[in-house]
Amino acid sequence: MIVCVCRKVSDRDIERLARSGCGSFDELQMELGVATCCGRCAECAQQTLESARRRAVAPRGVCAEPELAMA
Ligand code: FES
Repeated sequence: MIVCVCRKVSDRDIERLARSGCGSFDELQMELGVATCCGRCAECAQQTLESARRRAVAPRGVCAEPELAMA
């Protein structure tokens, strides 16, 4: 899915960066340029980064979403 149309950045691009250690929205902006043109993608890019970071730090086989593990 394309997150930032202006910079042609996908959710996979953001996930790849999160796996390589991207820790902040500022860093995401510097590396990929998201939300640096029209800015409409800022909220979606932030959410995508947060989700990707949670998955990146979760050990294999462990659910990164505690509320899902309770269901
Ligand atoms: S859609 Fe990302 S800056 Fe315009």
